[in-house]
Amino acid sequence: MEHSLALYVYKIRKYYNDKYYKNNDPAHGLPHIDEVYANAVQILKESRYKECDPSLVALSVYLHDIFTNIDRLNHHTLVKEYVRNREDEFLKVLSDRDIRYVEYAVLEHRSSIVTPPSSLYSEVLRLADTGAPILERLLRRMWAYHYNDDMSDMDVAKLVLHHAYSKFGSCGYAYDDSIYKEYYRDDIDKFILQLDGLDEVGVIGICKGVV
Ligand SMILES: [Fe+2]
Ligand SMILES: [Fe+2]
Repeated sequence: MEHSLALYVYKIRKYYNDKYYKNNDPAHGLPHIDEVYANAVQILKESRYKECDPSLVALSVYLHDIFTNIDRLNHHTLVKEYVRNREDEFLKVLSDRDIRYVEYAVLEHRSSIVTPPSSLYSEVLRLADTGAPILERLLRRMWAYHYNDDMSDMDVAKLVLHHAYSKFGSCGYAYDDSIYKEYYRDDIDKFILQLDGLDEVGVIGICKGVV
C-alpha cells in the first residue's frame, strides 16, 4: 500500500468512529479501539511479527468491534462478513490475500474463542485486544462493560469480579490461548495473586477511583 501510515490510521480511525464507534457502548468505543491500536503497535516491535504489514494490522484493529452495538455476542462474525464483502472503500482496494488476513483477524479476535489464531495478524489483534494483565486497566474496562444505571455499585462489582476470575483467575480462559500466556508470562503470576486478594469493595475502589 502506498500511503503514510499515520495518514492512513487518521482516515480509518475517523471513518469507523463516525460510522460506528461513536454509537457504541463505553466498553467498545473509540478509547478502547485506540488502546488496542497502541497495544498492537507495541506488539509489532517483536521480531516474530516483523513480516506483518502495519496498515493491515491498523485496519483490523479499527474494524474489529464496529458491530458490538448491533449484536455483542456475534459481532466478530458480522464484521467478518463485512470484510469479506468489501463493504467500504478501505476494503475494496485490498488484494484477496490481504482481505483474508483482515477477515480472519477480526473473526478470531475474541479471547473466548478457543481455536488458535490462523495468521500472525490474528495473533496480533487477539493479543492487543485482550491487552496486558494490568489490574486497574482490565477491571475498569470490565466495569464499563457491565455497568448499568439500574444496578448498584455492589452488583456491578460482583459481575466484574466474576468476569475477572473466569477470564484471568488461575484457571482463566485467557490462558487457554497459549500465545497470550507466553507473551505475558512474566506478568501473569503476579496478576493472579493481585486478583485473588480482591473483593467487591476493592473493585469499586479501583473502578470508581476511591482508592
Ligand atoms: Fe470484540
Ligand atoms: Fe475489542
